[in-house]
Amino acid sequence: MSVKINTLEFENVKRIKAVQLAPAKNGLTVIGGDNRQGKTSVLDAIAWALGGEKFRPSSPKREGSVTEPHLKVTLDNGIIVERSGKNGALKVIDPAGNKGGQTLLNSFVEQLALDLPKFLNSTGKEKADTLLKIIGVGDKLYQLERAEKTTYDRRTEVGRIADQKAKFAKELPVYTGVPAQPVSAAELIQSQQEIMAFNAENLRKRQQRDYYKSQLEVAETALKQAQERYDAALNNFKLADMDEPEDKSTEELERNIAEIDEINKKVRANLDRERAEQEAEDLRDQYNELTHQIESLRQERRELLEGADLPLEGLSVENGELIYKGQKWDCMSGAEQLIVGASIVRKLNPDCGFVLLDKLEQLDSKTLEEFGKWLESENLQAITTRVSKGDECSVIIEDGISVENNNKFTTKQWTAGSF
Ligand SMILES: Nc1ncnc2c1ncn2[C@@H]1O[C@H](COP(=O)(O)OP(=O)(O)OP(=O)(O)O)[C@@H](O)[C@H]1O
Ligand SMILES: [Mg+2]
Repeated sequence: MSVKINTLEFENVKRIKAVQLAPAKNGLTVIGGDNRQGKTSVLDAIAWALGGEKFRPSSPKREGSVTEPHLKVTLDNGIIVERSGKNGALKVIDPAGNKGGQTLLNSFVEQLALDLPKFLNSTGKEKADTLLKIIGVGDKLYQLERAEKTTYDRRTEVGRIADQKAKFAKELPVYTGVPAQPVSAAELIQSQQEIMAFNAENLRKRQQRDYYKSQLEVAETALKQAQERYDAALNNFKLADMDEPEDKSTEELERNIAEIDEINKKVRANLDRERAEQEAEDLRDQYNELTHQIESLRQERRELLEGADLPLEGLSVENGELIYKGQKWDCMSGAEQLIVGASIVRKLNPDCGFVLLDKLEQLDSKTLEEFGKWLESENLQAITTRVSKGDECSVIIEDGISVENNNKFTTKQWTAGSF
């Protein structure tokens, strides 16, 4: 069951001299009055009474008072909370007989309900974390968001390289009328080698002939002394002599080889371009696959949040930030921020049925009405302050003293409208 405040009685706390108030069980209770009359002091006193030491004002006792502060709050679960004396000694009376002072109060008093500005002023990430903690999908959502970011970055990189590759492929030359694969020069080289061997043989023969010729010359010179040697030499010469051999030319082959080199250069250029185009295409495929992955991660994230029990319709988390009706925190109106804050704090501890809100001047009267209706529909009690003495105020604080506002409107009289 949500615990709510039935009555408040405060004396000599901060600016308060004597304040009594029975807030509405549901919806808005506005504490009105001029500046510096003690409105915020009432909220401070509630926070101290229920929140304990952490919320104790630095100078709790009203200056000029001879008596120490006294605070009394009755709750709708029957518990009566009293603080009195210089240190605000706590007395918790529980008709059900439950033991415990502050610990008992802490079980149903949500700290952020006593100090909503702490939530409203926290960073975007802290707000989102609070919400994710409530709905219990924080870890999984972060995993999905991290995976999405990594995939997104990877896709950007792949896309960039794919564009570069495609541009590079376009700049490469392309030739027509050449074979698809490089032509082999092996056969021609083989023929060239055979001719070279043939020519070498010729050279050898030429040298041999020259050798015998020189011998013949020697022999001729010695002809007279050595007719026999001359005959032998003559004989040898005859044997060695032959028709003048003719060398073959490798010129054509060399021309063919050069042509092949030229063709192969072009073939290689075509292959380079084909390869670059293929690479660009592969990268494009990868890019599309990554786009697909990002889409399914986003879908999974949407489903995760759709399946979660969110405290407010239209509330979500994207990239670690709260989103309400498609807007980030800094783009929400003041009223929307209050609703988002109150609904999250409400959900943090469902046993806490109230929330304190200071300075509701920021809401115009129509928005205030709508906010009141929203609070009622949420079964939430809001005790608020506003610099006003209008009909929306339940009590007016003047010089630290509460005065019942007899002209007060109830929210039931307010015109229709809702968030
Ligand atoms: N212990 C104290 N004893 C007496 N006066 C105090 C004490 N502490 C604060 N004050 C005075 O109370 C006034 C502020 O009280 P409080 O904040 O409750 O007023 P308020 O009605 O909320 O004003 P505002 O409309 O400006 O927000 C200040 O003038 C401050 O000097
Ligand atoms: Mg104030």
